[in-house]
Amino acid sequence: MTALIDKFGRKHDYMRIAVTDRCNLRCQYCMPEEGVKALNHVNILSFEEILSVVKVAASLGVRKIRLTGGEPLVRKDLEKLIFMISQVEGIEDIAMTTNAIHLAERIDDLQAAGLNRVNISLDSLNADKFRELTRGGDLDKVLKGVEAAIDRGLEPVKVNAVVIKGFNDDEIADFIRWTIDTPIQMRFIEYMPIGDSLVWKDGYFPLEEVRKIAESIAPVIDVVGVKGNGPASVFKLAGAAGTVGIIHPVSQHFCSSCNRLRLTADGKLKPCLFWQKEVDIRPYIHDEQQLDNVFRDVLNLKEEKHQMTEELQGEKRTVRKMSQIGG
Ligand code: GTP
Ligand code: 5AD
Ligand code: SF4
Repeated sequence: MTALIDKFGRKHDYMRIAVTDRCNLRCQYCMPEEGVKALNHVNILSFEEILSVVKVAASLGVRKIRLTGGEPLVRKDLEKLIFMISQVEGIEDIAMTTNAIHLAERIDDLQAAGLNRVNISLDSLNADKFRELTRGGDLDKVLKGVEAAIDRGLEPVKVNAVVIKGFNDDEIADFIRWTIDTPIQMRFIEYMPIGDSLVWKDGYFPLEEVRKIAESIAPVIDVVGVKGNGPASVFKLAGAAGTVGIIHPVSQHFCSSCNRLRLTADGKLKPCLFWQKEVDIRPYIHDEQQLDNVFRDVLNLKEEKHQMTEELQGEKRTVRKMSQIGG
């Protein structure tokens, strides 16, 4: 079987799998206060079904799996799924993006099952602000999760902060200083207007500022070759234990080098985060040849790039919330 190369020449070797649409937090930019109506259990792919998709994906050249959600750790027995995926021939890297509330207590089991890396979402280092943004989250638990991931060598441990003007832009220097003694990659992410939970235009913060803030702390050195296919540009403060990454999905999108497909918790294969197009794989789940065809159909549906900054008719943009795609 041939690799997943789309009509724009992009090779797809990375699949993001949302294992649930549920989350134990309700970040203001991600979900409305009342939450999002959760999928009924019968509509969620079982581990066996996910495995069937992963096997076909691996046979088509997918090498890296990232588990997302919702919050992946709220899916019962996630370790079991990780182990199942780790046994699939061709899969080389299993990562997870998590809010880390339950990471410290699960990390040994997750690692034993085959988890290689974690990216941790953390938008404030101030306990009160963190509680406000997440509508109830406990910062201390997240910090324990970060520590545990570093301690177990799940390198590089990446911390994702979505920068929102007027909310956490005043903490950028604190986040950067954190890397002086802590071996994390601190990533600042431009807010993407998906899921419409926040008035994004008011919250936009130009990430060019981040490097200037870093330079006001210490000399800055560019870093290349950090593990992961991530779209971040990376630098570090001279002498620091960790690094700083900047992700501009909107203003300097990385679509021309996009290597990813997404599987939603309810079994839709999605070629792009932004567009509504998706294909239901459930009817084909037990037939490898048909699944193979679906992967190719989905690839054909993939657009060259997103259009996040332009006005676009509703039916073309994804109607899913961020928590229903997995970022
Ligand atoms: P690494 O494997 O560590 O490089 O992870 P990653 O950056 O691919 O994943 P992560 O889940 O940490 O996502 C970081 C940020 O990039 C989040 O804000 C995601 O929503 C965003 N992101 C991830 N993939 C895409 C993508 O394909 N397109 C766009 N526009 N944004 C993405
Ligand atoms: N824009 C940018 N990043 C987002 N995330 C969630 N919503 C948005 C958004 N609107 C981030 C989360 C998590 C990652 C998967 O996506 O903080 O780290
Ligand atoms: Fe790929 Fe779509 Fe993300 Fe662009 S917006 S990088 S095409 S998934």
